[in-house]
Amino acid sequence: MSSPIGIFDSGYGGLSILEEIHRILPKYDYIYLGDNARAPYGTRSFDIVYQFTLEAVKRLFEMNCKLVILACNTASAKALRTIQQNDLPQIDPNRRVLGVIRPTIESIGAITQTRHVGLLGTQGTISSQSYPLEIAKLFPDIVVEEEACPMWVPLVENQEYNTPGADYFVQKHINNILSRDTLIDTLILGCTHYPFLEPKIRQYLPSNIQIVSQGHYVAESLKDYLHRHPEMDAVCSKNSICEYYTTESPEKFSETASIFMQENIQAKQLR
Ligand code: DGL
Repeated sequence: MSSPIGIFDSGYGGLSILEEIHRILPKYDYIYLGDNARAPYGTRSFDIVYQFTLEAVKRLFEMNCKLVILACNTASAKALRTIQQNDLPQIDPNRRVLGVIRPTIESIGAITQTRHVGLLGTQGTISSQSYPLEIAKLFPDIVVEEEACPMWVPLVENQEYNTPGADYFVQKHINNILSRDTLIDTLILGCTHYPFLEPKIRQYLPSNIQIVSQGHYVAESLKDYLHRHPEMDAVCSKNSICEYYTTESPEKFSETASIFMQENIQAKQLR
C-alpha cells in the first residue's frame, strides 16, 4: 500500500506549494486535499480553523499519509501547534504534520538588507501574530509590518486574479503596507494563494523590493526534513503519483487546478 505525502489547503492555494515540492521531489507520491467547500478559512475563528484542519489531517491519515504538510498559513498559524502537541500523540505518534510558516521565516534573515520586512496574509494569519512572534525569536533585529488582504483569496478561488478588480485590491494593500514603513525591502506572501497574484503584485511594487514566495522555501525545507529523518523518508512511497481531492465539485476543482498547474488534473470528491 502506498504512503503519499499529504498536502492540505483550504482551497487552491496549496497548489503553489505542491508545484514547488513536486519540482524538487518528483519521485514521491502526493495527495492534495483542498477544502474548497469551506474556503476561505482566513476570516474564520481559531476554533473553526482548528476543527476543519484536524478533520482534514485525519482524512489524509485514513488515506495512509504518514506525513502531512499544512500548505496553508491560516491553518499553520491557528491549528498546527495544537495538532502537533495534543492530537498527534493520541492519533499516532509516528505520523507528522508540518507547516509553512517556519520555513518561510528561516529564509528571510539572508534576504532583507534593511531589516524591515512586510507581511501580507489573511486576517486569521495576521491576527494570530504567528509571524512577528516567530521572527522575533529567530531574528530579533527584524522589524515586521503586517497587512491583511481579505479579498485576495476570493479573487484566486474565483479565478478573478487577472481582472481589473484584482488590480484595485492588489494596489490598495501594497500601498497601505508600504506607506506605513518606507524601509521595507522584503515582502512575504504569507498566504499560499498569493503567488497566483504575484505578477500583479510585482506591477505595483517598487523594483528594489523582493518578494518572498513560500513554495521554494517549503519545498527545500521538506527535502531537508526527509534527509534528516530517514525513517520517515523510508515509509513515504515513491511512484511519482499525485492525486487530488476536494470537498467541492471535482469538475470545478479539476478545471481550475488544471489552469493553475498547467497540466490536466482529474480530481476526486472527498466523501
Ligand atoms: N492558502 C491559505 C493561507 O495560506 C488561505 C486561507 C484562506 O482560505 O483564507 O492562509
